[in-house]
Amino acid sequence: MLYDLKAKIEINQQLAASVYYLELSMASIPAKLKPGHFVHIRLMHTNDPLLRRPLSVNRIVERKIKNKIVKNIGIVYKIVGKGTHLLKEMAVGEEVDVLGPLGNGFNSNVLKPQQPIIMVSGGMGIAPLVFLAQKLIAAKSKKQITVFLGMDTKKNLILEEDFKKLGCAIQISTDDGSKGFKGYVSDCLEKYLSKTYTLNPKPYIYACGPKPMLKALGIVANKFDIPGQVSLDEMMGCGIGACLGCVVKTHDPKQEKDFVYKRICKDGPVFDINEIIWEE
Ligand SMILES: Cc1cc2nc3c(=O)[nH]c(=O)nc-3n(C[C@H](O)[C@H](O)[C@H](O)COP(=O)(O)OP(=O)(O)OC[C@H]3O[C@@H](n4cnc5c(N)ncnc54)[C@H](O)[C@@H]3O)c2cc1C
Ligand code: FES
Repeated sequence: MLYDLKAKIEINQQLAASVYYLELSMASIPAKLKPGHFVHIRLMHTNDPLLRRPLSVNRIVERKIKNKIVKNIGIVYKIVGKGTHLLKEMAVGEEVDVLGPLGNGFNSNVLKPQQPIIMVSGGMGIAPLVFLAQKLIAAKSKKQITVFLGMDTKKNLILEEDFKKLGCAIQISTDDGSKGFKGYVSDCLEKYLSKTYTLNPKPYIYACGPKPMLKALGIVANKFDIPGQVSLDEMMGCGIGACLGCVVKTHDPKQEKDFVYKRICKDGPVFDINEIIWEE
């Protein structure tokens, strides 16, 4: 079921130079909310921007208020334009309109018992992976998770501690080499896999980040024949599959056409790592 709810800002605090953590409380959190889902946020005090802005659910937070446990939604967002700039200006106690949960979310039913998990994030792609790690670790079977965090430079690295607290192993890469591996996170993963290629069972990859990073990651995953899912980031209009403003070319499962279009907001944002036809 789709919720369109007013949500109160509980926290809106800076994490890095242009990155903020937003925590929202609302009447209830949709029970089916899962990692990889996103919410579409509308600023109610202005019509500019008119369109909602899609942001991934970063975590579910339990808070004790007057001896009652309430669940809030945590979001991590980067300021890139008008909508996110206005969101940053909003104060605790103010309200936004939240439509969600949207998208398909990550599928964890495909994991085999004892299968090692690799998470790969580029930039703000890190946001939904914290929620995924939380859920996988809370599940009964023991999970071994290695998280590859790719960022441009050390001072912009965020959420490393959250993964550490969950017991995940961390591999860091920065484009400028200021921390960890120097270069792209896909190259960092390739180096790691070259050393651990004999892993049995093979790991499963969950990734989120900009398209060029996911494309490079797809090549690495193919080289080592590793399965996985990628979550795509795209500019969106309606967010509910109606405007066709967010389509991506995918391989035709029936192999009758050269490609079929899928809507990132409705059929995604999570796709099989081999499903996308990368064009850039
Ligand atoms: C499913 C999904 C989940 C997302 N989750 C997060 C998240 O958790 N945290 C986060 O910080 N961001 C996330 N984003 C991206 C976020 O939606 C955009 O950064 C935001 O909508 C920008 O709004 P704005 O009004 O600030 O910028 P605008 O004024 O709309 O745009 C400013 C600039 O950013 C570019 N831009 C805008 N949106 C995107 C986009 N989606 N991809 C690439 N370039 C874009 C524009 O072309 C323009 O150059 C997500 C996007 C999608 C589709
Ligand atoms: S944003 Fe309208 S169909 Fe995806």
